[in-house]
Amino acid sequence: MSPVLSLVNVTKSYKQDGRSIQVLNGISLEIGEEFIAMLGPSGCGKTTLLRIIAGLEKPDSGRVDIPENAKVGFVFQFPTLLPWMTILDNVALPLKAQGMGWGEARERARKYLSLTGLQAFEDFYPREMSGGMKQRVNLARALAVEPMILLMDEPFSNLDPLTAESLRSEILDLWTLGVTTVRSIIMVTHSVDEAILMADKLVILTPRPAKIAGVIEVRIPRPRDRRSAEFQKLEDRVYELIAA
Ligand SMILES: Nc1ncnc2c1ncn2[C@@H]1O[C@H](COP(=O)(O)OP(=O)(O)O)[C@@H](O)[C@H]1O
Ligand SMILES: [Mg+2]
Repeated sequence: MSPVLSLVNVTKSYKQDGRSIQVLNGISLEIGEEFIAMLGPSGCGKTTLLRIIAGLEKPDSGRVDIPENAKVGFVFQFPTLLPWMTILDNVALPLKAQGMGWGEARERARKYLSLTGLQAFEDFYPREMSGGMKQRVNLARALAVEPMILLMDEPFSNLDPLTAESLRSEILDLWTLGVTTVRSIIMVTHSVDEAILMADKLVILTPRPAKIAGVIEVRIPRPRDRRSAEFQKLEDRVYELIAA
């Protein structure tokens, strides 16, 4: 399997109060056509790593290899929608920014709004939408750039449990049906349960400065049953690795 994305010895420090704080301590990882869940304690550097993969920030050393022309979609942890624009235009805006005309951008936006179940809401404004619906818009907006790599930063952490669960299964459906351009997903999460439910592979990070504590493959067929013995066995293994 040739990797879609390679991280080669990525390091990063920040200056805080005149001191240098190391955040990433030599992260190397090859990611193929797969769904990765990245787990690690709060403040260990997960968001920083996603931002570096997306090219929003530069590593101090090391590098990120991505195929030429491959696009990266990003579902941010605290995403913002422009309140004065309709849902349709919020999703079309990044395409417009890439140089597409409004007509084509809106047509593309409609396609992804319908894929995320929002076709009836294109004329709504963000204030008229619930948290779960806004998060769907964020997903549509990330997918509409037709990325090869999709990054999601704790995408369910601000949703109520039922909304989160239905969005999880919809994202899994999109993924398993292969109806988007996405070939690799990297999802940051705090939840071991969510990681095992969704991902092909778990990447567990240490406390700051983050390095990779372990990689665990999830070979349980989907849809996965949280109450199954194999699910719980894997959960135990992950907690052991986190505690180590
Ligand atoms: N732009 C920045 N300037 C200074 N420090 C930062 C910056 N971004 C993140 N940090 C620090 O880097 C560490 C890792 O942050 P982050 O990547 O957001 O962690 P996580 O997403 O795992 O919770 C934290 O200690 C945070 O305070
Ligand atoms: Mg974060």
